Amino acid sequence: MQTAHSSVQAYRGSLLYFHADPAFIEHAHAWHEDGLLVVEDGKIKAAGDYATLHASLPQGVQVQDYGGKILSPGFVDSHIHYPQTDMIASPSPGLLPWLQEYTFPTERSFEDPRHAATVAEFFLDELLRVGTTTAMVYCTVHPQSVDAFFTASEGRGLRMIAGKVLQDRNSPDFLSDTAQGGARDTEDLIRRWHNHGRSLYAITPRFAPTSTEEQMQLTGELARAYPDTFLQTHVSENEEECRWVKQLYPQARSYLDVYDRYGMMRPRSVFGHCIWLDQQDRARIAETKSAAAICPTSNLFLGSGLFDFEQADKAGMLMSLATDVGAGTSFSMLQTMNEAYKVARLKGSYLPAMRMFYLATLGAARSLHLEGTIGSFSAGNEADFIVLDPQATPLLARRTRLCDSLEETLFALALLGDDRVIAATYSGGRRVHARGQG
Ligand code: GUN
Ligand code: ZN
Repeated sequence: MQTAHSSVQAYRGSLLYFHADPAFIEHAHAWHEDGLLVVEDGKIKAAGDYATLHASLPQGVQVQDYGGKILSPGFVDSHIHYPQTDMIASPSPGLLPWLQEYTFPTERSFEDPRHAATVAEFFLDELLRVGTTTAMVYCTVHPQSVDAFFTASEGRGLRMIAGKVLQDRNSPDFLSDTAQGGARDTEDLIRRWHNHGRSLYAITPRFAPTSTEEQMQLTGELARAYPDTFLQTHVSENEEECRWVKQLYPQARSYLDVYDRYGMMRPRSVFGHCIWLDQQDRARIAETKSAAAICPTSNLFLGSGLFDFEQADKAGMLMSLATDVGAGTSFSMLQTMNEAYKVARLKGSYLPAMRMFYLATLGAARSLHLEGTIGSFSAGNEADFIVLDPQATPLLARRTRLCDSLEETLFALALLGDDRVIAATYSGGRRVHARGQG
């Protein structure tokens, strides 16, 4: 019955979003306790107090009532491997044996496009169930793993970033490309998927040890030739890995410098882990407007190390939180915040919940140079949002009832929450997940 204004939808609940980084700006967030989110044609039209905005709704628009719940921009997971879904929680003493024993054999099966399609669908269900509406995704060395992923994500209308892994040495034969072949496939995939619908392409060299210098050179050339594509790789995750890189690239000043020398540090380049960096590395990330993807559940699981939030902030680095599934042990960005908080404590610093929610929304959008598109309820952003339920479990209900501030409530959600907190997930203004319905 809403013919004249059928493209407008409205949602009532508490609204939380950011317009600045709370670590540096005092009033960085917007909070409307009794708020209204107005969506038109898949984009945010307005966000504000219900009392103010309600009257401006076109006649006939039904308001969906999410009373007692918090509406937030959807979470962004800036580093995750969809082919590793089935090997999450595989025991191994550290990164390099874990790659050999589990990761490479698991990724081999993505040669089969039907297998890739099945896993991609399950993976996307899981992301939406935990409130992640955008992810930066590693596929495998097989171009068909990328086609399967974007076919699945476009089928659901999701804003996703993904790319084919490039690896042409120190890899099993069944998981190796060649420098020329990998570059050619990457260029084909960029043409096929980058900015196709809501898909965005990420040039994806696995990490320096599994690429020859020729592959690194060609990858850098692609990064320059297609400056608005993304680039993702791993850096300084594990001490043994860092020693290996030193042997393979003796001319480089540091592990990160390997990527720098090949021209891979630029806006929209996202470096996973960034644990064993020095201040010069951190300054380069800041200077080049590249970003760090911080993966605390993975780093604790593999015993890789502790990300240094304080030094990263001192350098002014762009950064965001990420799961790194399958080395990460949860798809949930709330669980990721839980572990990030503890990592910060172990390094002697402190991460307020408000900062963690920023890092998982607007902070991530800024890291990816997608501000204005995702991560906020400012008008014009894509309507990717989630409904958080502070009473999702008996314990959460009991704890959040006693919270005296928004910070306390968000902290309880981060420390105690998981997929159960996500009552609903919306993408492009369409509901793509409702708790208890699959
Ligand atoms: N370094 C190179 N490949 C990988 C991977 O698949 N996972 C993690 N955590 N680190 C890597
Ligand atoms: Zn990873």
